[in-house]
Amino acid sequence: MKETLLVVCLLAGLTWNGSVQSSERTLACLKLCKCGIRPWFSPSSLYMEAPTVDCNDLGLLSLPEKLPLDTQVLLLQSNNIAKIEKTLDYLVNLTEVDVSQNNVTRLSDLNVGHLPQLLSLHMEENRISTLHDNSFSHLPNLQELYVNHNLLSLISDGAFQGLGNLLRLHLNSNQLRVIRPEWFNALNQLEILMIGENPIAQIQDMNFKPLSNLLSLVLARMNLTEIPDNALVGLNNLESISFYDNKFAKVPQSALRKVQSLKFLDLNKNPIERIRRGDFVDMIHMKELGINSMPELVSIDGFAVTNLPELTKIEATNNPRLSYIHPNAFYKLPRLETLMLNSNALSALHRVTVESLPSLREVSLHSNPIYCDCVVRWINMNKTKIRFMEPEALLCTGPPEFEGRHVRHVHFREMMDTCLPVIAPESLPDRVSVASGRSVSFHCRAFAEPDPEIYWVTPSGEKILPRMATSKYFMHPEGTFDIYDISENEAGQYTCVVHNLIGADTRSVSVVVNGFYPEPSNGSLHVQIVAVRPNSVKISWIPPKSSFVSNIMWSTTTVSNHPSLRFTARVPSDVRVFNLTHLHPMMRYEVCVEITDLQKGHLKTCVNVSTTEEAVAEAKSDRSGVVVINSIGLLLVVSAVTCSLIYMSLRRDSIYTKLSDQPATETPQGPNACPSPALTQRCRPEMNATAVDLTNTTN
Ligand SMILES: *[C@@H]1O[C@H](CO)[C@@H](O)[C@H](O)[C@H]1NC(C)=O
Ligand SMILES: *[C@@H]1O[C@H](CO)[C@@H](O)[C@H](O)[C@H]1NC(C)=O
Ligand SMILES: *[C@@H]1O[C@H](CO)[C@@H](O)[C@H](O)[C@H]1NC(C)=O
Ligand SMILES: *[C@@H]1O[C@H](CO)[C@@H](O)[C@H](O)[C@H]1NC(C)=O
Ligand SMILES: *[C@@H]1O[C@H](CO)[C@@H](O)[C@H](O)[C@H]1NC(C)=O
Ligand SMILES: *[C@@H]1O[C@H](CO)[C@@H](O)[C@H](O)[C@H]1NC(C)=O
Ligand SMILES: *[C@@H]1O[C@H](CO)[C@@H](O)[C@H](O)[C@H]1NC(C)=O
Repeated sequence: MKETLLVVCLLAGLTWNGSVQSSERTLACLKLCKCGIRPWFSPSSLYMEAPTVDCNDLGLLSLPEKLPLDTQVLLLQSNNIAKIEKTLDYLVNLTEVDVSQNNVTRLSDLNVGHLPQLLSLHMEENRISTLHDNSFSHLPNLQELYVNHNLLSLISDGAFQGLGNLLRLHLNSNQLRVIRPEWFNALNQLEILMIGENPIAQIQDMNFKPLSNLLSLVLARMNLTEIPDNALVGLNNLESISFYDNKFAKVPQSALRKVQSLKFLDLNKNPIERIRRGDFVDMIHMKELGINSMPELVSIDGFAVTNLPELTKIEATNNPRLSYIHPNAFYKLPRLETLMLNSNALSALHRVTVESLPSLREVSLHSNPIYCDCVVRWINMNKTKIRFMEPEALLCTGPPEFEGRHVRHVHFREMMDTCLPVIAPESLPDRVSVASGRSVSFHCRAFAEPDPEIYWVTPSGEKILPRMATSKYFMHPEGTFDIYDISENEAGQYTCVVHNLIGADTRSVSVVVNGFYPEPSNGSLHVQIVAVRPNSVKISWIPPKSSFVSNIMWSTTTVSNHPSLRFTARVPSDVRVFNLTHLHPMMRYEVCVEITDLQKGHLKTCVNVSTTEEAVAEAKSDRSGVVVINSIGLLLVVSAVTCSLIYMSLRRDSIYTKLSDQPATETPQGPNACPSPALTQRCRPEMNATAVDLTNTTN
């Protein structure tokens, strides 16, 4: 549409140049103004060659006298006109008057007279404050009216009376505090209404009801936080609506459902935090959806955009915190061809997201911090026919060995097929201050393969699982955590834990309530020796409620004939007892338990213990054998540590642990060994503990 208009304009421009030259009119015209035939489009896009008087930008205080009688277009832009004293009704063919950027304060000062031919009136950028009843009834054929960028604070109910042919009305950038449906009673042909940038406190139900032919409504920059469910009722032909740059915290879904004919929705630049399931339900004619430049948007949830048979394009770009798109976010969109997701904080786009879109042809994913591992592996697997736009800007930001490389140039076999969850740093703030009585939500999301599970831990150490509700907390299945009716009791540190069987990541938010934040108390950790044998020592401890990983480290302290070996085992938080095996008899060991606690930080307690003397019957067994086993143990531990270092470098500073949901066991058993550093890709983080188990089994 735009392009064809442009072409027509260009062609028209060419013919105009010709006409001006051949025209004698210039001579007959006024001294200052330029006269000539110029191309002109009526508001309904009819093309005309119009005799034009151009008095733009001449510092005029009043209108020139005796304008050419055939004048159709009168341009008076950027002057200093405050009044038109002599009527213009002698210009019988006048179709457009432009008095924009002048000094008009009262509409009644524009004494233009009865102008039945006038189609277009430009009065933007003046200082008009009021539109009284019947302000335009002398212009019965007006099709477009521009009163934007004035000081309008009052419009009488009958101001637009008699404008039954008006197609386009611009009232944006004024001082209106209310929109009254009565204004629109006379405007039953209106197609375009721009009324944004007015300090309107609230849109009312049925606010636009008379506008049954309206096609496009612009409600941009109005600081709207919500609109009532029936605000858009009656807009039966509305195709496009813009809520650009408002303060909506969520998609005004109930109001939008009432506009069944909607095709284009612009929600850009609103502080929406997540696009939720069902946000666009029933908008069955939707063709294009804009979710751009949203400063707070973190996540597009599962089934957020679904069941829209005519949707061809989704544009969700320039959202600095958008770090997660659920694999099933876009679902049942049979015609979706274009997915614009560039310039967000996405580390990946899930294969399922793309595979569920049968008509998808192009994806724009560049300028995102793409992490080139398992989740995006599919991109290079040659099964996809999708075109990636601007591939030169589609770069890996990690893991370190791929940093800066083109995503499309990393062979998929170089990428791991499983990976740890990583919570995007953009998704959660470090600290928030809340007033008591308020509610707050945090959105924790992470890509991983296999898909991760999420839970939250409260300051008191309570574990809140998906769909769990308490009087103060609720956790949504996607990872969003709500705290209701906050009091100082809820102040403290909240931690999101995301884990899959490869490992876990955590991220904490400090919640300050009315300036209050509880100081973390330094708890102590007591380690008890439960049993001592010649070759083993069993210890126990009580981890604090909010801890989620324990490290056990042991080494000999008196070394003479044995090398000082240092062993480490990592166990899940619910393990409280551990049997250290393959120790040497009559040897002093230092055993340390280190716990990562969400409130108290690191807790570490060490005890010294000496193993007992070997029983005589066993004495002969095999001293050399123990050394061998120990060496094997060392090798395994060393290789395991190498593996985990490699793995660690592949995934940012995540905490490696097997967060088992199974009931506490004693020494954890792990089936996933890491036999040699060559096979690092499949190593699992719990292999430190596994190394211990292996020595155990060789016993
Ligand atoms: C006004 O337009 C009509 C139709 O194009 C034309 O016949 C008439 O001469 C015009 N009047 C003047 C004063 O130019
Ligand atoms: C605009 O008109 C007002 C009177 O209505 C006058 O005081 C003011 O000086 C005028 N502004 C300019 C820039 O001429
Ligand atoms: C919206 O709020 C901002 C900041 O409070 C204010 O500067 C601006 O004038 C408001 N805009 C409207 C149209 O009320
Ligand atoms: C994909 O196919 C192209 C050409 O068919 C080939 O050059 C490229 O190596 C293939 N990439 C992968 C990852 O198989
Ligand atoms: C906790 O320990 C840190 C140092 O580890 C210390 O600075 C802080 O004052 C202690 N807090 C309390 C409440 O004892
Ligand atoms: C610890 O493990 C060793 C070796 O498996 C075993 O002999 C010993 O009985 C265990 N100790 C306890 C207290 O269970
Ligand atoms: C254990 O022994 C080592 C070496 O003798 C000593 O440095 C350490 O302080 C002792 N630890 C405890 C907890 O007694």
